[in-house]
Amino acid sequence: MANTDTVSQKSEEVEGLLQRLHEGVDHGRVPVGLYGNSAVYEQELRQIFGRCWVFMAHESEIPNAGDYVVRKIGEDDFIVTRDQEGGIHVLFDACRHRGVKVARASAGNTKGFVCPYHGWTYDIKGRLTGAPLWKSAYGEMEKADKGLLPATQVDSYQGLIFATLDDKTPPLKEYLGDMAWYLDLVFGLNEHGVEVLAPPQRFVIEADWKSGADNFSGDDYHLGTLHRSAIDIGAFPVPFAENMKGYHIQASPGHSLSFSMAASEEEPGPRFFGFPEELNSTFDTSRISQHQLDAARMSRVFVGNVFPNFSILLLPTTDDASKHPATGMLTIRCWQPKGPGKIEAWNWFVGYKNMTPELKQRTYASGLATFSMGGTFEIDDTEPWITIARTGRSVAGEKLQMDMNYEMGLPGVGIATQIKDGSWPGPGIVYKSRFEEGVQRNLFRFYGAMMSAPPDRFPALRFEADEADARAEVPAQA
Ligand code: FES
Ligand SMILES: [Fe+2]
Repeated sequence: MANTDTVSQKSEEVEGLLQRLHEGVDHGRVPVGLYGNSAVYEQELRQIFGRCWVFMAHESEIPNAGDYVVRKIGEDDFIVTRDQEGGIHVLFDACRHRGVKVARASAGNTKGFVCPYHGWTYDIKGRLTGAPLWKSAYGEMEKADKGLLPATQVDSYQGLIFATLDDKTPPLKEYLGDMAWYLDLVFGLNEHGVEVLAPPQRFVIEADWKSGADNFSGDDYHLGTLHRSAIDIGAFPVPFAENMKGYHIQASPGHSLSFSMAASEEEPGPRFFGFPEELNSTFDTSRISQHQLDAARMSRVFVGNVFPNFSILLLPTTDDASKHPATGMLTIRCWQPKGPGKIEAWNWFVGYKNMTPELKQRTYASGLATFSMGGTFEIDDTEPWITIARTGRSVAGEKLQMDMNYEMGLPGVGIATQIKDGSWPGPGIVYKSRFEEGVQRNLFRFYGAMMSAPPDRFPALRFEADEADARAEVPAQA
C-alpha cells in the first residue's frame, strides 16, 4: 500500500510539473523541477527515449562487414552492426536465453556474438546460430524466432543512423521534418560527405540531458559571459556582438537550430564556418540547393538539436590562436541519459571525407582543445549545467515553484523579429537575431507533448499554428 502511495505521489508530482510546463511554455516559463528529478526521468525513459528516433552511430563508424559499435537507447545497450550485404542492424544487447549482455567490447569486427553465460551464438544480423551441445540441449527447437531483438525501426539520414523502439513513431524522414533541410546543409556540402575522425569521447556530467539539448538548440547568449575567456584567447574568432547576428529557427516540432551569419557579402569574418579555401572550393550543389550553399557560405556557426538528445555544432575554432588560425570544426554529440540529473556525453569529431590528412588533423586538434572533456568550451558549459540539475532537485525549487525563464524574443521582449516575408530561403519558423529563445520553447513544447501523449499515440509533427509563438500573444494570466 505504501508503495502504491509513493507511485501515485510521484506521478502526481510529474503531472503537476507537466501542467505547469503546458501552461507556461508559450510565455517563456519552464519548471526547473523537471531537471534532475527521478520521477520525471523515469517517465522520460519510456515516453521519450522509448518512442523517439534516437541517434545511434554514423555509418562511417561501421564501414565493413562485421563491424559493430555498442550504443544506447535510453539506458539500454544496442549493438549496431554491418552485415555482409552492407545492411545495418540495431540489436538489443541481451541474450534471448536469460538476457545476458552479449557484446563484450564497445566496438570491433566480428562474425557474431557468443553469450558468455551458456554460449548461445548469434550472427552479425542477430540471428541465433547455435549453442553448445545443441542436440542434447535443444534438439529440434526452432531457432528462427530466438535471435537478438532488433530495434523496431532503423533508418539513416545523411549517414546518421537512428533507431526507435516504437512502431507508432512516424518514419525517420517525417520525424526529422524540415530539420532535414538543415542536416543536408551541414552534411551534404559536397559530393563526398563526412566521416567520423575518431571513436567518440565519452564523459559523465552530473547534469540533466535537457541542459545539452537546450544549449544546442541555440543558447548563443551564454557565449559572451560563460566563454569569455575562450574568446579572449582567440579560440573562437568572432566577437560576441558580431556572433549574435544571425537566425534562430524552429525547423520542426522539437528540432531547433541557430546560425551565426554575416549580414552581407561585404561583412568580414569567416565564410563556410571558417573552413579554408582549399575545402570551401569543393562545396557545391551536387547534393544541396543553391540556397543552402549560399546560406552555408555566409555562416560562421551552425548549432542545432534533433529531439531529444542529438546535437550538432559547426564553427571555427583553434587549439592555439598564436600558432594556427581558427578552422571549421564539426562535432556531433549525444546527451546520453544515465540516471536522474546525470548524462554521459558522447562526442564525435567529424570531417569532410575529401579533407587533406593535415586538415583533418587540424580540425580534430581544435575540436579536442575546445569541445571535449578537457576543452575550454566544454569545461565552461559543464559547471552551470550541474547546478541547474541541483536546483531542479532542490526542496526550495519545489516549494517556491521556481520556473526558468525563456521569454527572450517573445512579442515585446528584445529585438528578435519573426521573418514572414520569405526573405529566409529555408523552412521553419525563423527569427532574425540570435537574441531569442523560441528555439528552446519549441524544444520544451514538444517535450511536453511527448511526455503527456498516451503511449499509443505519437504527438502530431506539425506546428499547431502557422507561427508556433503566436500563442504567446495570449495574455499570460488569461
Ligand atoms: S544467458 Fe545467454 S546463453 Fe544463457
Ligand atoms: Fe557553451
